[in-house]
Amino acid sequence: MITHAYYREKLASVYDRMYPFIEVDTGHTVDLLSRLVPPPARVLELGVGTGRLALPLADAGYRVRGIDGSAAMLARLKEKDPEGRVEVELADFTSSHTGGTYDLIFTVLNTFFSAVTREQQLGCLRLVREQLEPEGRFLMEVFEPTLFHGLDQPSFSVRHLGDKGVMLDMLSVDRSRQLMVGTHTVIDGGVPETTQHVVRYAFPSELDLLAELSGLRLVDRWGDFTGQPFTSASHRHVSVYARADHEPR
Ligand SMILES: C[S@@+](CC[C@H](N)C(=O)[O-])C[C@H]1O[C@@H](n2cnc3c(N)ncnc32)[C@H](O)[C@@H]1O
Repeated sequence: MITHAYYREKLASVYDRMYPFIEVDTGHTVDLLSRLVPPPARVLELGVGTGRLALPLADAGYRVRGIDGSAAMLARLKEKDPEGRVEVELADFTSSHTGGTYDLIFTVLNTFFSAVTREQQLGCLRLVREQLEPEGRFLMEVFEPTLFHGLDQPSFSVRHLGDKGVMLDMLSVDRSRQLMVGTHTVIDGGVPETTQHVVRYAFPSELDLLAELSGLRLVDRWGDFTGQPFTSASHRHVSVYARADHEPR
């Protein structure tokens, strides 16, 4: 069984082309984070990747630290940030304390589900609680698993990687363990390469329970980064937690 989901070289090399329509979401995310905890707050991103959000947040005046287990992804971030506006750390966010505390900690694009056991997810949330300032906020964006949980057969799709490549994505689900295995084959001119990526999905109610066990409580949940309500039609959620030992602001 794969025990971590760090992005290896091939995935890192195409990552910034994997989500061609994400700029709009990036803008909404920066806006929402700024309303939640305005700059110049201290921010930690779990799974910072190539800096899609960390760099605009640093430009907006935040003091940003990013943690990622993938040297290949951090190398891409460094290329875009030669002056080191974002502090980075090569480590596992389910088990590593950064040594600091933050006003805002966040993780997006299903990265939280990369912690592939309940224990790892709890480990991550406990570390979030330890590193969160008393008035701080933790934001997580993940998919709502109903559709995938009901998947009886592997699902197959193709995504374009700009005009020079494609990625073949196959998804299969082991309902009994809440695991989703993604098999991604990149065809972009060189030797095609396949990587596997496992995530452990959880329903919002389980996430809230794990958060409670870690000393956090839910304060808001939306269906996207524009603040649309989370309803039974939502395919993802943006959830915000605060420290349970602290009165709501
Ligand atoms: C979907 S990407 C998100 C990147 C970036 N946050 C963004 O929004 O574009 C997930 C990132 O999380 C990293 N990652 C996954 N599991 C991790 C873990 N347990 N510890 C540290 N990094 C992890 C991967 O290497 C990858 O860079």
